[in-house]
Amino acid sequence: MDYRIAVIPGDGTGPEVVAEGLKVLAAAAARAGFTYQLTHYDFGGARYLRTGETLPDSAVAELADHDAIFLGAIGHPEVKPGILEQGILLKARFALDLYVNLRPVKLLPGVETPIKDKEPEDIDFVVVRENTEGLYANTGGFLKKGTPDEISTQVSVNTRLGVERCLRYAFEYARRPDRRRQLTLVGKTNVLTYAWDLWWRAFNEVGDADYPDIKREYAHVDATCMWFVKNPEWFDVIVTDNMFGDIITDLGAMIQGGMGVAAGGNIHPGKIGMFEPIGGSAPKYTGKNVINPLAAIGAVQMMLDFLGQSEAAGWVEQGIIHAISKMKSLNAGRMGMGTTDVGDLVARFVAAG
Ligand code: IPM
Ligand code: MN
Repeated sequence: MDYRIAVIPGDGTGPEVVAEGLKVLAAAAARAGFTYQLTHYDFGGARYLRTGETLPDSAVAELADHDAIFLGAIGHPEVKPGILEQGILLKARFALDLYVNLRPVKLLPGVETPIKDKEPEDIDFVVVRENTEGLYANTGGFLKKGTPDEISTQVSVNTRLGVERCLRYAFEYARRPDRRRQLTLVGKTNVLTYAWDLWWRAFNEVGDADYPDIKREYAHVDATCMWFVKNPEWFDVIVTDNMFGDIITDLGAMIQGGMGVAAGGNIHPGKIGMFEPIGGSAPKYTGKNVINPLAAIGAVQMMLDFLGQSEAAGWVEQGIIHAISKMKSLNAGRMGMGTTDVGDLVARFVAAG
C-alpha cells in the first residue's frame, strides 16, 4: 500500500512532537512494508498572523485528497481564543465531514492515574463522540442583543442520519476483537427529551436490527462522570453527542494519565481521518526538547489502525509502553530524557520487533 498523509505540525511544540511521530511512522512502514507520501501544510497561528488565513477552502480540497491527516497542535498566545479553533479544527471537521470523534481512554502500564486503586485492566474504553452536529452545529441567535431583555438561543441539532451513522460506527467498533461487545449510550433522556428521544430510538432500532450480539447499556451523562472515577471498568465502548463527548473525554484523558498520553481521531470512516495529540501547543516549552511526544505517537498509532495497519499500530503501542518504562515522568521537563530521545526509544522498539 501507498498512503497519502497530510501533515499539519501547527504551533508551539506541535512541530517537535510531530517530528517524533513521523520518526515512528517511518519505522512502522519499513517493518510492515508499506510506503507513504507526506504533504506538509503550515496552517496554524503563525500563518494566521502573517496572512490572515486559517484553513482556506482550496486547502480543504487538497486535504480531502489524502488518506489521513496528522495534526500537531493549534494555538498561539497572540491569537484571540476561538479564531484558530473555529477556523482550522472545526472547519476541518465540518468541511471534511469527519463525523466521528474517537477517543480511546486506556491506562497503559507504568502510567499513573489519579484514580485510587485502579489498574490498566480497569481503565480501557473508547468514546465515540458525534463530531458534526449537536450544540456544535452553530444554530441559534440573538434577539434584542445588548438590551436588558436580550435573548440568546443555542440549538442542539440532531439528525436521524447524523445520529445513525455515528451509532453504526460505535456498534461496529464494539465488535472489534479488542473490545467486549458492550455499547453504552451516554445521554440525558430524563431532561433533554427531544434530542435524546431520537438518539434512544435510533440506538435501539439499529441495535435490534443489525447488532443483536452487542450488549446495550444506557447512562446519563452526569452519572457517567461519577462512574469514570468510581467504576471505569464498567465501560467498553461509549457513544454520545458532540457536547457531552467533548466534556467526558477531557475527564477520560485525565484518568488515563493526562495530556502526555491522550490522542484522538476525527474520522469519516472509509474516507479520511485526522489524528492529533489532545494536549495544546504548550508555547512555554517550545524549542526546548522537553515536551512529551507520546500523545503524538499515540495519534500515529491511531492513524495506522485507521489505515488498516493494525499490526503496526500494535507495535507502536508496545513501543510507547516500552518508552514509558524508561521515562522518569510523563511531564514536560521531568522525563529524564529529551523529546527526541523518547521518539528514538519508540522508533527503535518498533523497528526491532
Ligand atoms: C476538542 C476541543 C475542541 C472541541 C475545541 C478546541 C474546539 O476541545 O477537540 O475536544 O471543543 O471540540
Ligand atoms: Mn474538548
